[in-house]
Amino acid sequence: MQIEHLVAEHDRTNFLNWLRDFPQQVEAAIELGEQLDGRVDNINKIYIGGMGGSGITGDLLAGFLYENLRVPVRSIRHYSLPAAVDRQTLFIAISYSGNTEETVSLFKAAGRAGAARLVVSSGGELTEQAELDPDSLLLTIPSGQPPRASAPYLFIPLIYWLDRLDLARAPGSDAVTETLEELEKITEELAPSGAENPALSLAGRLHDKINLLYGSQPLTAPLALRLKNQFNENAKMMAFANELPELNHNEIMGWRQLADETDSYRVVFLRDFAEHPRVQKRFDITAEIVGEQVQGIDQLAGRGESRFSRFMTLMLYSDYVSYYCALLRGEDPSEIESIELLKRLI
Ligand code: F6R
Repeated sequence: MQIEHLVAEHDRTNFLNWLRDFPQQVEAAIELGEQLDGRVDNINKIYIGGMGGSGITGDLLAGFLYENLRVPVRSIRHYSLPAAVDRQTLFIAISYSGNTEETVSLFKAAGRAGAARLVVSSGGELTEQAELDPDSLLLTIPSGQPPRASAPYLFIPLIYWLDRLDLARAPGSDAVTETLEELEKITEELAPSGAENPALSLAGRLHDKINLLYGSQPLTAPLALRLKNQFNENAKMMAFANELPELNHNEIMGWRQLADETDSYRVVFLRDFAEHPRVQKRFDITAEIVGEQVQGIDQLAGRGESRFSRFMTLMLYSDYVSYYCALLRGEDPSEIESIELLKRLI
């Protein structure tokens, strides 16, 4: 069946629109970041609390800024904070809806610990709480889209704010220009109407497999984790993420169990040209070892020269792959019934 027909049949709430809008979202997110003011001083660590499509922001931030972050950044994805959170901590609560109970709980705990607090949200209880507290900062992002399709809004403004706080460095204007150009090209190339669509071809190989997504620290490991989550939520597929070099010390042995099921699994490497040279070599050797035990290995890499472009293009490209996997499986990429059911039942 033609892919346009699958879009019409399964993409009932126009998830594709969020993908098409990604370059504009990046631009708008940069503007939001430039407007975000508010000072916090004497910070020596950052904790980022959030779940799911919001929670991944902490990993994206820590990975993207790794080389110029002046303080450690840690993600927390449950209800309580470690004792290390104190008055020299910046706590960032990220929840698209503002109503995620784990994140609300963390926000309150950070208040009790005396941490400086910022809420990133489109509304909900967290927004109300931040508005009531004169010491809390609030970044309101546009509402009405799925959190997992809102990564630029959740993540990019923080980079610019941390830059102004002198805690990290944001991309320069050349990098931004390149990123927007590359994102526009990808949007065109990967559209359902595209003559040759490599994301659709890749989805053709992956949509009926269990996929193991391997990135490397610091840049592509968080993108591998995000892609796993997009496979889960958009395509309703089981997928697993891991990272090099760590998996060379454990998971590589686990492949033996799959030796008789080589048709069921595929591997995707998320690569970056600036990987540590030893990591490049490790990817090559891992491909040789694992390659004998899986149906195939695909490689994905971001585009452009700048780190920002490579990061954002790999993110968008991955989103298209998960989107096409959803359609090929006959799934609506927007529907997340079990997640919503669980939130109602708890
Ligand atoms: C939905 C999604 C979920 C939510 C998560 C937390 O698109 O990605 O993973 O992000 O359930 O909800 P929020 O983001 O509202 O705090």
